Formats: sequence, C-alpha cells, structure tokens
Amino acid sequence: MAEQEQKNLEERTIRAEKDAKAIEEELDKISKGDLSYIGDPRLEKLYSENEKLKHRLVILENAIKAESSGSQKPAVSKEKKLPTLITDINSVEGNICIVDELKNIFEFAIGSAYPDLEDPPIVITLSGNNPKFGDYQCNSAMPISQLLKAKNIKSNPREVANNILNKTPSSPFIERIEVAGAGFLNIYINKTIAEHVMNCILRFGVKPPPVKKERVIVDFSSPNIAKEMHVGHLRSTIIGDSISRILEYLGHDVLRLNHLGDWGTQFGMLIAHLQDKYPNFKTHSPPISDLQAFYKESKKRFDEDEEFKKRAYACVVQLQSHQPDYIAAWKLICEVSRQEFQKIYDRLNINLIGRGESFYQDRMDAVVKQLKDGGYLEEDEGRLIMWGDPVKKDGIPLTVVKSDGGYTYDTSDMAAIKQRVEEEKGNRFIYVVDAGQSTHFVTIDACARRAGILKNSQKIEFVGFGVVLGEDKKKFKTRSGDTIKLLDLLEEGLKRSLDKLIEKGRDKVLSPEELKLAQEAVAYGCIKYADLSHNRVNDYVFSFDKMLDDKGNTAVYLLYALTRIRSIARTAQISFDQLLAEVDKTGFKFGHEAEWKLGKVLLRFPEIILKVSNDLYLHSLCEYLYEISSAFTEFYDKCYCVEKDKEGKIVNIIYTRLMLCEATARVMEKSLDILGIKTVSKM
Ligand code: ARG
Repeated sequence: MAEQEQKNLEERTIRAEKDAKAIEEELDKISKGDLSYIGDPRLEKLYSENEKLKHRLVILENAIKAESSGSQKPAVSKEKKLPTLITDINSVEGNICIVDELKNIFEFAIGSAYPDLEDPPIVITLSGNNPKFGDYQCNSAMPISQLLKAKNIKSNPREVANNILNKTPSSPFIERIEVAGAGFLNIYINKTIAEHVMNCILRFGVKPPPVKKERVIVDFSSPNIAKEMHVGHLRSTIIGDSISRILEYLGHDVLRLNHLGDWGTQFGMLIAHLQDKYPNFKTHSPPISDLQAFYKESKKRFDEDEEFKKRAYACVVQLQSHQPDYIAAWKLICEVSRQEFQKIYDRLNINLIGRGESFYQDRMDAVVKQLKDGGYLEEDEGRLIMWGDPVKKDGIPLTVVKSDGGYTYDTSDMAAIKQRVEEEKGNRFIYVVDAGQSTHFVTIDACARRAGILKNSQKIEFVGFGVVLGEDKKKFKTRSGDTIKLLDLLEEGLKRSLDKLIEKGRDKVLSPEELKLAQEAVAYGCIKYADLSHNRVNDYVFSFDKMLDDKGNTAVYLLYALTRIRSIARTAQISFDQLLAEVDKTGFKFGHEAEWKLGKVLLRFPEIILKVSNDLYLHSLCEYLYEISSAFTEFYDKCYCVEKDKEGKIVNIIYTRLMLCEATARVMEKSLDILGIKTVSKM
C-alpha cells in the first residue's frame, strides 16, 4: 500500500516538476529580454501558477521523504537562525565594526518580518554627506519588495521598510531610524556608543577588529638576480609590504616571500664571463660593483661569440648538476645582487624573506612527477604542457618541461604553490605582480586546482597593478632615455624633499636631526603614498611635483596635518597622562556638531581595515585618511581646543576636544603605519 502510494506521489512529482520547468523556461525567456510578454495578462497567471506548482512540489517531496523514512510526521520547516545582537555597551571594545553590527541588526529585523524569505538581501550603506539621510542606510526594502512580488505577495517598498522598522530591536548602536523616500531606512548612530569607542581608543589604543587568524603567504617584490630591479618591482615592493602590514596588524601569520628570479639559463653566460674576467673568483671575491654592466657585457659576448655561447650552455649543465665550482660562482653572483636589492629594502624599511626560484629545484622534480603520474601532461613538439581546462584548451597552457628537459617559470610556480599549500599550510596565497602576468597566475591556479593541489576554497589571489609612466605618459625613463635606477630615484626623492622643506624655511626651525628625519619621512612617504593612493590596477604617472605637493591627497599634506594635530596638545602643555586622568574623571563626550562629524569618521576605522584586508585595494585606506584630515580641519576651524587671552596666556582648555585630537592622531598614525609611512613629531 505504502509502495503504491509512493509510486503515485513520485509520478505526480515528476509531472509537477515538468510543469514547473516549462513555466520556468517561459519566465527565463522573459527575463532574457523577450519583451513580447510585457503587459501580457498571461504573465501574472504564469507567475502564480509557477509559485503554486513549486509549493506543490515541496509538499510532494516532503511526503515522499516522510513515506520512505517510514515516519508519518509532517516535515517541520527549519527555524531560521537569527544573529545574536549586542545589547550591553560594556561588552563593546574600541575595535567594533559598526557596519557589521548594523548588518546583524537588520538581518534580525528582516528575518523576523519576513521569515519565509530565504536569504533576503541585507543592504547597508554609508549615507552621503547630507545629514538628512542619516549616518547609514538600510536599502533592503526595494529588493525585498521585488522578491515578494515574485512570490505573488502584494507589497510596496515603503510598506516593507515600515515592516522592517517595526521588527528592528532596540540597540545601543542606533539612536533612531526613519523611513524616507521610496523605502529607505535612514539610520542615526547613537552617540553614547561612539563616546564609549573613543574612550577605548584613548585608553587602549587603536585595536584591530577581531578576525579568524590565518596563515597568509604574500609573494612580492621578487626582482631577478643580475638584472635591474625596476619601477615595477618597486610598486610590488610597496604594495606587498602594505598588504603584509595590514594582515599582520589583524594578527594573521604572514610569510613575506621574495620570489627572486635566481635560477635559469642566464646564469650560464654570467658564470662563463665570471670565469674569464675573475679567474680566481673562488679565493678573491671579485669587485663587481655594477652587476647590471656585468650582465650587459656577458650578454653581448653571448650574442656575438659562438664559442662563448657554447661554453655558456655547458655552464648551465654544470650548474644544474650541482658542480661545486659552478654553484660557488652562482652563489657569488646572487650575493652581489642581493646586497644591491637590500639597499632599497633598507631605505624603504621593508622586511622580507628571500626564497628564490632555486629553492624549488627538488620540488620541481616532485611536482613534475605528480603531474605526469596524474596524466595531466600532454606532449607538444617535444615539450610537456598542461592545460587548465583540457577540454576547452583556451588561453595558453603551462610549459612544464621544455624540449631539452629543463624547467620553466611555470614549473617553479607550480612547485611553489604546492609548497605553500602543503608545507607552509597557507590559507591565503597572495601574489603581488604586474598586471601583465595575470594570465600566468590564472593558469597556475587552474592547473593547481586540476591537479588537486589547490582544494575547494583555496585560491591564488592575484594582486595585479598597472605600469609606471613618466610625466609624458610614456614609459618611465630618464631624460637621456635610460631606464631609471631605483637608488637614483630614491636619491632624487631625498633631494627634492629637502628642497621643499628648505623652501618652507623648516631648516631654520628644526634641528639638523629633526630635519633629516623629516626629509626621509617625506621622501619615502611620498613615493609610497603616491603609489598606494591610486587604484593599483591602473597605470600611474610618477611625478615628484605632484607627490610633494602639500595640498591635496598626498603624504606631505597628511604628515603636516598630523604634526599640526600633535602640536595642539603641546601648545596646551598637556601630557598624555594628564589627558588620561581627565578621561578617568569625566569620560569623553561629543559636543559641537563638527566634533560628532569627526567622531563618526573615526568610528569607521575597523570597517575600512576589514574591507582593505579582503579586497587588497589600499587606496580606500588612503581615501579614508584624507577624509579624516578633512573632517579634522573642519572641526578645528569651528571648535577651539585651547583658549588664550590677549597676552597669549592659556585661560581655558577644553579637554574633550584635546581627547578628540588625540584619538584622531592615533587613528591617522595607525593608518600611515599600515601604509609603511613613517611619521614625525615635527616637520
Ligand atoms: N621575478 C618575476 C618578475 O620579475 C616576478 C615573480 C613573481 N612571483 C612569482 N611567484 N612568479 O617578473
């Protein structure tokens, strides 16, 4: 009997499924732009029929489930889990991400108002500059109204907004909510929570928002031995360092890797040339000061002299079979190069671990074997190649083994990703490399996934960036047309920054030590900031004049703004301890509207940090810094912190405003630190 019933049910299900599918197809046509259906009364009918059938389908499926499991109980619909909300202000710390809590609050409200909607969109955005629109907005009412319509439930966005509002629990985060316009929910942040956060910042510093800790591998800088480190590598160095800094700040376990190009056929000619030029290089370290000139010389011989070319190839074979003399020569060349690179890293205060392509030699053998055994490699004119998608075969395949049996850049990157997954146990794999290499990394990702090296959610995060252009919008070169040496570039930055400080007469105010600190902070800070403040995927024009401008969104402007803020407490002759004592006595309270406006900007720090650490676009942090300093300027124009009489004697100090200055300075300092920019107390 049960069997017969089940059969019946199954048949009916199949029929219902078919009907539903036919209707879905019709609907699909409509959604794909088949406009002939618009205004057709059959449309509404189809929608409602579709809904009814879907409903019937669910009932039938549940009946089958109940039948086959032998239980007669009707299936109970699962209770929706709503987020737990913060109710106690004292459980909040200075690192709270306000927008995340707002998302929770509205997920709760929408889930309560519309329990039958699966995954309703929770849209929270920052309101514009107009205070009429509140501080944040919840813009979920419009899409929810659409969803309801699709379910044949009559509603309009305003009504939905009101329903959401009615279900919004009271929260220490929200002062009030207003329904506006077509169905926007304007949210006004509660001052008390903001004051609490300011208190925390003053007492405990600018703490990072809590996140699940991960092991992150950041591959950046990565120049090639014996070749010049060019402006592209400089971009990678600056962006990669900043990415590492933000992830370290969040408490992640970050491995900063310099994937040096230190293995390949170019070493053949370098070694052959070394043997000729410095025959006793093993006992007397040769004075190679200009490795690039050395490279050029050997390249010239390689191109012009057949005998030399043959020897160079023989050297490669010797090197690859680990012949000690050849390894010694190779090491020597690498060392000279590395010392050159280190000069740049020292100046820019960059730490990273050198782990070049040579590190993966044995691992390349292993990964090639794995790929061969797995049947992933195909022969192609003597080479062994691998496609990311063996059916489509689009794009360019990896060359895993060359026709002479040697390995390539592709092979070392396959070995590297395997090492980073299996040995380093990474959770995130970030590569900061010029946008020109994006296809290479897309293919590495696809092949590593195909071979089972990358699993499920593991993926290569390619952080690409555009090329550096000169002010003429052409490739960045010196006046005489040569490529620019990075050390020369940094030197010029130093010179220009000093000129700028002298132009402003700072040499007369600052001590020689202070002047030097300011000079370096400005020079290196402006080079880094100019790079980081532009959307990295775009090409960017390198201009000392622009980056050293003290107006606009530049490092110079921000460093000045910061020293000005720092000087306010100095003028008031108030130490930080005194300020803390005041916090203990009176706490922090927002007064003037401009104070509150600045406070709300500062409150967004955790939100910005979380965003940047996800999408790895640092220009958002730069924009945020600029926003802080603009809000601060407005505050400082409107609100005095220290009142003096005609003789210049201090007659009144407004402590809460000094506290706001302190909090502003701290958030700015932390942000600049993440960007790798040194701050100075005077400049
Ligand atoms: N050495 C390469 C270049 O100069 C960049 C290496 C990037 N990292 C990597 N794992 N392939 O273009």
